[in-house]
Amino acid sequence: MRFGVLTSSGDAPGMNATIRAVVRTALHYGHDIYGIRDGFQGLINNDMVLLLHDDVSGMLTKGGTFLGTARSEEFKTRKGQELAIRNLQKRKIDTLIVIGGNGTFLGAQALTELGVKVIGIPATIDNDLGGSDYTIGFHTALNTIVDAIDKLRDTSSSHQRCSIIETMGREGGDLALFAGVCGGAEFIITKEHMIEKDVMIKKLREWKKEGRSHAIIVTTENIFNVFELAKEISDKSGFATRATVLGYIQRGGNPVPEDRILATQLGSYAVQLAMDDISGVGIGLRQNTLTHATFDIVLNETVDRSLLYELVDRVS
Ligand code: F6P
Repeated sequence: MRFGVLTSSGDAPGMNATIRAVVRTALHYGHDIYGIRDGFQGLINNDMVLLLHDDVSGMLTKGGTFLGTARSEEFKTRKGQELAIRNLQKRKIDTLIVIGGNGTFLGAQALTELGVKVIGIPATIDNDLGGSDYTIGFHTALNTIVDAIDKLRDTSSSHQRCSIIETMGREGGDLALFAGVCGGAEFIITKEHMIEKDVMIKKLREWKKEGRSHAIIVTTENIFNVFELAKEISDKSGFATRATVLGYIQRGGNPVPEDRILATQLGSYAVQLAMDDISGVGIGLRQNTLTHATFDIVLNETVDRSLLYELVDRVS
């Protein structure tokens, strides 16, 4: 068989480890594999290279993606998709393996509808795809955020301040929720769990009066202007408040062991599924079982996190 592999969407730690597992498994079974540069844009530009065993040496441990990634506007058009398909046909690629997040799976779905055999591997720090308990990259980003919260707690308690930490996650709240629980946050604000600002400020005012030394608020991006929120909390609660936007630092770094294992399992599984002539699916690991589901499920399934949110209220 002949495979193509690409990474698309925002980079996530563990993408390189995934490419490595895909390449090594394909070669193990005697197949050819092309690496496509810069996601779907590379498919349109016919920017591909045959990958060999040594091309992925050292990739298990490296952050980012050595193939490059992009959010291609051209690929969203029918013309771009047709160009991409023509290039796949020219190279006689049987199955395309795409590694990425939401946008990647939308692209995979579009290609599937046009008759291309595609398998999607979930890799995004956001953990916002269905079909898998975790996406590749999530645990590494979580580690980065928890480390930041621990450090911010040191300075917050020393100065008796409240600290607001803004995480990434786009529409998804898992990064803020999991990091908030791990970092002992007093408030976690996500799109699934909005908090009344006035109620929060009232509580902070009470805590300040009671003599609490500090407070931590973790919020997903695109909800508040956290600098304005910090000023409002300072003015109304008496808790001097500072905001920190963690930004792109959350996407970098070498993958933690959880992501290396997941990447290796899913990368290898994708090739095995293709050899069984299964495509048009996104793959994942659920309750320790490798599974696959339609792109529709992967893109639309949501997980109820209410138990975790309740936990935060009980222990804050
Ligand atoms: O999807 C991953 C992610 O890091 C989101 O958390 C964030 O909203 C977005 O990508 C940022 O995208 P870009 O790299 O295009 O600015």
